[in-house]
Amino acid sequence: MNARLPDTAMAPGQPSLQAVRLSKSFLSGHVRVQVLQGLSIALYPGELSLISGPSGCGKSTLLSLLSGLQSPDEGQAMALGEDLGRMSARALEHFRLRHTGFVFQGFNLFPALTALEQVQLPLGYMGFKRAETLRRAQRALDEVGLTQRSAMRPAELSGGERQRVAIARAMAKEPQLLFADEPTSALDAESGQRVIDILHRAARAHGTTVLCVSHDPRLVRHADRVLGMEDGVIRNDWRQNQVTPE
Ligand SMILES: Nc1ncnc2c1ncn2[C@@H]1O[C@H](COP(=O)(O)OP(=O)(O)OP(=O)(O)O)[C@@H](O)[C@H]1O
Ligand SMILES: [Mg+2]
Repeated sequence: MNARLPDTAMAPGQPSLQAVRLSKSFLSGHVRVQVLQGLSIALYPGELSLISGPSGCGKSTLLSLLSGLQSPDEGQAMALGEDLGRMSARALEHFRLRHTGFVFQGFNLFPALTALEQVQLPLGYMGFKRAETLRRAQRALDEVGLTQRSAMRPAELSGGERQRVAIARAMAKEPQLLFADEPTSALDAESGQRVIDILHRAARAHGTTVLCVSHDPRLVRHADRVLGMEDGVIRNDWRQNQVTPE
């Protein structure tokens, strides 16, 4: 795999992520539960967009459709101008590896690896040479304030530090799309705040499209855009005017 492929080209002003009348249902016993009901949204680079809504309303499902982890029953999930539903399994896997980063509530770290190794691992899969994986991993750990913890394993790190390793791992790929599902819910106030600031900086400094799903009211204040989801559709959508030069 060539790690130096150019980023997917997109016309300015175009959404980097788009749900077009997405529908998704699941079979629960004999009952079909309609989770998404023709949901449409368009998200843009350089913004931290937050999806909030009651438990079970379909937030994680929407994230998995927009990142190509699951496919919709109807409608289209578009990412960086490409229809994920039209890609082969191999192309989708490559797309996800190359262009997307993920942060989950449960951190998903490997117990045996040091912080540095956790961050280097996906970079190796992407085809970067070892020296480059080291350079990128060190820079990402520095960005999340964990340079001093590089040699530690998850058991030696606090919850907030583990989440920052997970964010560094996602950001070291320099993905155009960063997905975060409840990234702060397992964290105390201070660690949660730090994680929010880092996600926000990723959007601002790197032009990343950050899509975050959360109940956390602290995140609302820091999002550029807040989308309220209920009963499988977006009920409200507002932007906050807080763009300040850095
Ligand atoms: N793979 C699956 N099989 C069956 N039902 C599913 C599956 N995934 C999700 N669901 C159902 O779809 C609905 C929405 O789930 P989803 O995880 O998207 O909600 P959520 O908004 O992320 O909730 P929470 O805030 O609790 O994380 C729930 O009723 C859930 O039980
Ligand atoms: Mg969820």
